[in-house]
Amino acid sequence: MYDVEQIRKDFPVLAQTINGKPNTFLDSAASAQKPRRVIERMVEIYSREYSNVHRGSYLLSEEITSEYEKARGKVRRFLNAARDSEIVFTRNATESINLVAAAWGRKFLTKIDEVLISEAEHHANLVPWQVLRDEIGFELKIFKINDDGSFNPDEFHKMLNGNTKLLAVTGMSNVLGTVFPLAEMIAEAHKVGAKVLVDACQYVVHQPTDVQKLDCDFLAFSGHKTYGPTGIGVLYGKQQLLEAMPPYQFGGDMVNVVTYQSTTFDEPPARFEAGTPAIVQAIGLGEALDYMMTLGMENIRAHECAMTDYMHARLAEVDTLREVGTAAGKGGVFAFDMKGIHPQDLAFILDKEGIAVRVGHHCAAPLVRRMGYENLTRASLGLYTNREDIDRFTAALNKAKSFF
Ligand code: ALA
Repeated sequence: MYDVEQIRKDFPVLAQTINGKPNTFLDSAASAQKPRRVIERMVEIYSREYSNVHRGSYLLSEEITSEYEKARGKVRRFLNAARDSEIVFTRNATESINLVAAAWGRKFLTKIDEVLISEAEHHANLVPWQVLRDEIGFELKIFKINDDGSFNPDEFHKMLNGNTKLLAVTGMSNVLGTVFPLAEMIAEAHKVGAKVLVDACQYVVHQPTDVQKLDCDFLAFSGHKTYGPTGIGVLYGKQQLLEAMPPYQFGGDMVNVVTYQSTTFDEPPARFEAGTPAIVQAIGLGEALDYMMTLGMENIRAHECAMTDYMHARLAEVDTLREVGTAAGKGGVFAFDMKGIHPQDLAFILDKEGIAVRVGHHCAAPLVRRMGYENLTRASLGLYTNREDIDRFTAALNKAKSFF
């Protein structure tokens, strides 16, 4: 049984008061809180186990190398990838997407190709493709979504064609919460010979992810949204694709033979992990994924679906509030506008009540504009969100309303 009150005790920060009020943390889509076992594991490494990886011929280095590689194995299990070597550690999802653009894109995209993205992309899955387009000259196409934020298969098919070389798409929008029908989209993209990159930053947090079943070619996510540390991210890539890609950063730990004249490069994933990696963060991420897998991704999803339904019901009671993004099956991300209150003012009032939300363009400015706004307020749920959080939040919204 999923006991959310018990689970909340795993997160020390939730027991704190903020501005003298219970900590109502509704900004997990920006960065999630960390369970005690992740914090303690990282302290333990720095206190007793720390050294560099892949370089030392002494016990501490051998042991930490084994822990670092075990963390890669945990990511493989979390994504159900076929091999550990398909998991590249990066700094975050942004770096993972930039890696694909720099290494795969520069080698395989030409000016007669098309890259297809959706209107719902985060800047991290838009800007790298704009910059590469300006360099190579391919066409960057953008398929439209419906006004309620839902996927529109006709608009998608209108844009997908034999010239599409890459579909780069979010699994779940960080603004609208829309969950795209990935399996169906990937199958369609493969039919026209395109590769598919999934920005799974929000997606992997809220449901089980199986890269083999999805059959995506690349998938990116960040550790800090999956209850792990900052400074660590993941790029999953199919083995034969990673093998065909040149390195994109150069230095230690990614080479075979180096002379003053030339260098040969290591196999993936080492080829893409130049320099000393984020060792402790990778192991912390492994711990966080273990935590989620122990709770059970299906159980987490069921809990968040129940909280999403509850949030919908409570928000509907706030008559001046308009939810932006109401696609069926959306995840626990609620962007909204409250008539007559600027999001920044609202955030200020909510903060005084101990409630954390994000306001602004959510690093998806074109999407927020396309939905008719410059700024929105966003509340987002995590595996620890309970009904009391949502009750305090909606009570504070009504209080804010009374001030204007
Ligand atoms: N991409 C993160 C968000 O949506 C930071 O807030």
